[in-house]
Amino acid sequence: MRLLAIETSCDETGIAVVDGIKTETGFSFSIVANTLLSQATMHAEYGGVYPALAKREHLKNLPILLRECLRTIEGVDITTENSITYKNETFVFPPKPDTIEAIAVTYGPGLEPALWTGIVFAEALARAWELPLVPTNHMEGHLLSSLAQKGMLEQVDFPVLGLLISGGHTEFVVSPTWFEYNIIGETLDDAVGEAFDKVARMLEYPYPGGPHISKHAERARNEQLISSTSLPRPMLHTQNCDVSFSGLKTAALYALRGKTLSEDEKAAFAREFEEAVGDVLVAKTRKALHESMANTFVIGGGVAANTFLRARLETLLADEFPSVIMRLPELSITGDNAIMIAEAALAHLLSGRAVIATGPIEARGQLSISTGK
Ligand code: KG4
Ligand code: ZN
Repeated sequence: MRLLAIETSCDETGIAVVDGIKTETGFSFSIVANTLLSQATMHAEYGGVYPALAKREHLKNLPILLRECLRTIEGVDITTENSITYKNETFVFPPKPDTIEAIAVTYGPGLEPALWTGIVFAEALARAWELPLVPTNHMEGHLLSSLAQKGMLEQVDFPVLGLLISGGHTEFVVSPTWFEYNIIGETLDDAVGEAFDKVARMLEYPYPGGPHISKHAERARNEQLISSTSLPRPMLHTQNCDVSFSGLKTAALYALRGKTLSEDEKAAFAREFEEAVGDVLVAKTRKALHESMANTFVIGGGVAANTFLRARLETLLADEFPSVIMRLPELSITGDNAIMIAEAALAHLLSGRAVIATGPIEARGQLSISTGK
């Protein structure tokens, strides 16, 4: 089955076309076309994502990405276009390619103004092309695409424990079987990515700060630069799998207030911060692995690109949980993209359990991955 997916939950606009088939033990995907436009540099001057700007950019980018996506598919005609008016907006679309059978769109969680742009565009396209539209959960997209290895989402040994770490989320999710999810721990305040971005801003690294913290912390480790500040490891010894990063962020703010740090001192501080986050995530992952009795552990979301955190978690599993399979996502899919939305939607469709939209889809900024709620 060939599906076109649209992702606009934050500051990346993505459209991808993916083929999926059901295999004996799971699913096999192959990417037909993939387009992604990041607005990160535009939001940099605001130090974070500015919703009105994100909305405007998504609206501008979506038609461009659709044409670019279709252009790469053999035999698709993009020379003619038809216009359709939907919800007081006029859209101009190329004719439907014969091979595409369904459309998927992220409907949450995320920034609602950003989500709306993708939803309205997808609804108009589904009408124009007369195709079913599958509203898809962004976090399930992160989880399932991270579980897939080289396009194969097969032989998954359940229960799966997922650690989802992104700009908006930090959660431990247990999946006892396909498409069932329970959150067993989450952040009580800031998400990990948010803490990375905020501390990076204090160190005057550009937005998004996660990759900059990671790069400078690595240099500090290589050059054995140690910070004079010790940061707290919040909730390290609490009995549940919840985490909290606002105390760490505030401690960083107080430690840095009124100080001018050299580049080496900043790098050492970035290292101390990354190690504090690492200590907390390792301790809580240990708890979550015991509690969930998971056979597979996977990490997903933008922060899953962090080399240091990946290594710390790999060591934890190798040393203490050698029988648990660890699935690390390919770096190309850790950040937001439309492939992950296509894969999640295809898995549902191919299992005959996709929810097809029958009316207008509502953007759900706070949508949870939990199926128990
Ligand atoms: O999943 P994602 O692309 O968007 C959301 O759904 O939020 O995650 C973005 C977050 C940002 O906070 C960014 O700073 C962080 O992921 N990030 C990193 C790294 N690469 C991206 N954080 C730490 N280390 C990295 N290498
Ligand atoms: Zn995300």
